Amino acid sequence: TKKILVPRTRKEIFETLIKGLQRLEYRGYDSAGVAIDGNNNEDKERFIKLVKKRGKVKALEEELYKQDDLDSKADFETHFGIAHTRWATHGVPSAINSHPQRSDKRNEFVVIHNGIITNYKDLRKFLESKGYEFESETDTETIPKLIKYMYDNRESEDTSFSALVERVIQQLEGAFALVFKSIHYPGEAVATRRGSPLLIGVRSKYKLSTEQIPVLYRTCKLINQITLFLTIKINVKNICNSRMKRLDSSTCLHAVGDKAVEFFFASDASAIIEHTNRVIFLEDDDIAAVTDGKLSIHRLERSASDDPSRAIQTLQMELQQIMKGNFSAFMQKEIFEQPESVVNTMRGRVNFESSTVLLGGLKDHLKEIRRCRRLIIIGCGTSYHAAVATRQVLEELTELPVMVELASDFLDRNTPVFRDDVCFFISQSGETADTLMALRYCKERRALTVGITNTVGSSISRETDCGVHINAGPEIGVASTKAYTSQFVSLVMFGLMMSEDRISLQKRRQEIISGLKSLPEMIKEVLSLDEKIHDLALELYKQRSLLVMGRGYNYATCLEGALKIKEITYMHSEGILAGELKHGPLALIDKQMPVIMVIMKDPCFTKCQNALQQVTARQGRPIILCSKEDTESSKFAYKTIELPHTVDCLQGVLSVIPLQLLSFHLAVLRGYDVDFPRNLAKSVTVE
Ligand code: F6R
Repeated sequence: TKKILVPRTRKEIFETLIKGLQRLEYRGYDSAGVAIDGNNNEDKERFIKLVKKRGKVKALEEELYKQDDLDSKADFETHFGIAHTRWATHGVPSAINSHPQRSDKRNEFVVIHNGIITNYKDLRKFLESKGYEFESETDTETIPKLIKYMYDNRESEDTSFSALVERVIQQLEGAFALVFKSIHYPGEAVATRRGSPLLIGVRSKYKLSTEQIPVLYRTCKLINQITLFLTIKINVKNICNSRMKRLDSSTCLHAVGDKAVEFFFASDASAIIEHTNRVIFLEDDDIAAVTDGKLSIHRLERSASDDPSRAIQTLQMELQQIMKGNFSAFMQKEIFEQPESVVNTMRGRVNFESSTVLLGGLKDHLKEIRRCRRLIIIGCGTSYHAAVATRQVLEELTELPVMVELASDFLDRNTPVFRDDVCFFISQSGETADTLMALRYCKERRALTVGITNTVGSSISRETDCGVHINAGPEIGVASTKAYTSQFVSLVMFGLMMSEDRISLQKRRQEIISGLKSLPEMIKEVLSLDEKIHDLALELYKQRSLLVMGRGYNYATCLEGALKIKEITYMHSEGILAGELKHGPLALIDKQMPVIMVIMKDPCFTKCQNALQQVTARQGRPIILCSKEDTESSKFAYKTIELPHTVDCLQGVLSVIPLQLLSFHLAVLRGYDVDFPRNLAKSVTVE
């Protein structure tokens, strides 16, 4: 932008974008692209340089340096660039399908997009009928072409960039976060969102005159704006952008005046945290524009529930929190962080002296929750497994029926939901599309909605009525590890808070709270088995299949262990409920098939012993995860991994860790990139 702290050259802008993309690579990484201002050509005409490449961000970086020395021959006053990493939804991973997508061969309008445009076929048909030729298979390409169509057919000469974007998004259905760049509006950036996350980082040398950025509405009259403006105490000089004022009566209001400010638009704070920790989270249908180095946010029209301002928030995220440190992969780092991450989940919430638990985000709704008809916990993948893992203890402590649901299936079934239901949405990212849709579905039916997320400011944490942040710290590895154990602990804490007044449950509560207290030390003990688990991986890594079997409190461990194995090692792996063994899976057992059995000293111990007998009778050679003091199971084991023993309902926090470690070592031995498993993305923001 124009008035930045240290004026940035094309090269610096490009480097900032590449760094940002690398931090976001975990969200999607099959191809990447960038659009920056082109070098000044002879007749000083502005143009946009577009470079796209299949593969990782590194490949994009090399490609651009091949094509351009990035020296600033250009003498424009303003520069800005946009960049994107893609995880294919429409069209194969390729340079042509990656973003930015463009309006035409001159790159008049270029756009980056997260999300999905569901009515793109109709839009494409319309644009094709107007003579537009499409080059990619993406839904996104309709957007730059649509804006060009609107620009070419604009009624007044001076239609602003943001007004054009506003007209475009009125035609779009689906979910999106978009950033636009155009040769017709040099140095101007416009961004908007609906259903996909988008934030603005604000970096300023000076303290800003306000922490609230007012939102303007197209329908506002100038007098209203002045009232609004005075209320939030911004310097009057900054109020109106004369060009906008001329265009329509709504206008834009500058969030910051002539101070040196730099703005970053990003889908995730990790991309920009090294530049600033001060961010504005945009709401659905906000249109944010940076014009002449000044930010404005406006909306088409105002509804009664709208908050008329967007706060600048300070994030508590440090750069080193998102770096790998001494570990070879983020996933490995995150596995080893679990002794601290579970402490962070409990910090300030569990009082071990008084045996009380207070979850601040839920306390005002506790009465309502206690009166509810049932609890429904909804999530996907690992987050769903955390719900499976805690269902039994929640039923016990809340004395309520608890349903656990996969978000996609919950929606497919049009599950009946009532006003007196309490629906939990559990999601590390807080952005998973299926979970978010399920949340909106439950909100429409007026159920109380509770978010359990790891991402402050995420869509799920903002759209739920109340909730708990699990505080596990940023999770970068695609395979979720520390978020699972923190979700687990959060749900147990909720059960404890619900049962505080139940005399009959006091002994049990005490036992669980003591278990929580010793959990971090016990996790450390499990992590010390890493070498042993590495040796086991050396024996197993050439296998094609791996079964994981257990029941009761540890069934979720089997599902989660098998998910970890399949997603990063690409081995076939299945989590099997031991109670179902004789109903089918037993047919898989023979001398060759590797089987891991999770057998803990809990109420299912004897039943697990039966399953063990059934496996060994078919010449199976089980690798057993068991308690240290269990002398029985080890007699039948091909190998054992002995774990410290804790209270039954928390044992799953410990028993999952050897399987996290095993999947990690298997993936490394098989030569795969642990943090970037093929075909997967960290944050699944499409249905
Ligand atoms: C598996 C994994 C996924 C996610 C799932 C939900 O390791 O990471 O199964 O758990 O995509 O994601 P969140 O929790 O962000 O909603």
